[in-house]
Amino acid sequence: MQTVHTIAELRAQVVAWKRAGERVAFVPTMGNLHRGHIHLVERARELAPRTVASIFVNPMQFGPSEDFAAYPRTLEADSRQLEAAGLDLLFAPSVAEMYPRPLENMTQVTVPELPAVLCGANRPGHFTGVTTVVSKLFNMVQSDVAVFGEKDWQQLVIIRRMAADLDLPVEIIGVATVREPDGLALSSRNGYLSDEQRAIAPTLHATLQATAERWRAGNRDWARLEADAKANLTACGFRPDYVEIRRADDLQRPAPEDVAGLRIFAAAWLGRARLIDNLPI
Ligand code: PAF
Repeated sequence: MQTVHTIAELRAQVVAWKRAGERVAFVPTMGNLHRGHIHLVERARELAPRTVASIFVNPMQFGPSEDFAAYPRTLEADSRQLEAAGLDLLFAPSVAEMYPRPLENMTQVTVPELPAVLCGANRPGHFTGVTTVVSKLFNMVQSDVAVFGEKDWQQLVIIRRMAADLDLPVEIIGVATVREPDGLALSSRNGYLSDEQRAIAPTLHATLQATAERWRAGNRDWARLEADAKANLTACGFRPDYVEIRRADDLQRPAPEDVAGLRIFAAAWLGRARLIDNLPI
């Protein structure tokens, strides 16, 4: 595996592959990798003979009171995992390489409407940070396909919309969430949990499953279902930001005739970890 830190080195390698007629698949990450990320690389390797991953903790997607400074930087351990997974090229740029001018002076990419709900409602500016960095990475890597985890379903929907609206020549592939045996979705932020919080954390997934089950059993009072789920999470020690049933493709509230294509979404704090999860209904 080759590791590069500059856009010029990245482009030189990808251009050489493209000239040789090889397809390229891309996995963007912020590092601190776990099995979920490695699963994305494995999926990327099925999709193209050449694979690129990026590790960049993107300051533009963190709010002023969020964990940008504390976010774990584990490049050496991440590199070993990526190499073992068979990745061809790791792009690990500095902040200055990605943002040569102050963030507020950089051009930003904003998808309308979709970022106003769910996580975006609690994290103003977050998705503009994500779509700005992902569009820059897409322009740098020029991959044929890019792979994202379904745990961040809202991010996946927003990136698909951005790629469609801007006619970006990259296919966006979503990959199912990887879970611990007790149901907890793998996340870099699980590392913030104490042993006691770790024991409580799978309740998030269990609560979504139970709520989805009530919906499937015919309970269509989504406001009641959401309120019950939030109350259950609060009773278990979480501070829920939201539990919401929405349409999977455009994140709108379900109309009475919408019985298929729905998902249930949640974000909840447990100590200093903000956990998110979602399931199809
Ligand atoms: O999902 C993430 O890890 C990040 O939001 C991403 C897509 C790498 C952009 O920084």
